[in-house]
Amino acid sequence: AERTYIMVKPDGVQRGIVGEIIARFEKRGFKLVALKMVHATKEHLEKHYADLAQKPFFPGLIKYMASGPVVAMVWEGLDAVKTGRMMLGATNPLASAPGTIRGDYALAVGRNICHGSDSVESAEHEIKLWFPEGTIQHTLSSAEWVFE
Ligand code: GTP
Ligand code: MG
Repeated sequence: AERTYIMVKPDGVQRGIVGEIIARFEKRGFKLVALKMVHATKEHLEKHYADLAQKPFFPGLIKYMASGPVVAMVWEGLDAVKTGRMMLGATNPLASAPGTIRGDYALAVGRNICHGSDSVESAEHEIKLWFPEGTIQHTLSSAEWVFE
């Protein structure tokens, strides 16, 4: 099944929206395959956002992302990348539809509380960056847990 990398950014963690974001992915039917809380280094975040290195907002973005711990997650399920992006909403929360995570909880593009991979290729790259080979354990499906 397809996997995507979803991350609650430092503002989402500090504002206490981690549980809400996890709940939305669970209720939608996605399976949580990896999760950790980590205060990332600037070097690590520069790798994560390498494609944006030339943007004028890049230094501010790295400072924001390094300002506190993030919650790094891998979610698995049908069309996880595209559906995950839809659930997050548009990059700029002012343009995010109500009902999306950013559309319900954020206002500023530089404080948009969550990240989601934008393609299957970047999802694979980001999952390797945040969860190096061998750090994701195999988990059973809920159905496999119903019977003793
Ligand atoms: P991510 O899921 O975080 O990757 O967001 P995205 O894919 O919707 O947007 P993009 O990858 O283009 O930008 C990454 C992040 O940089 C955004 O989520 C914003 O936090 C920030 N960002 C993007 N554009 C702007 C901008 O014009 N100004 C500021 N201040 N921040 C921006
Ligand atoms: Mg992006």
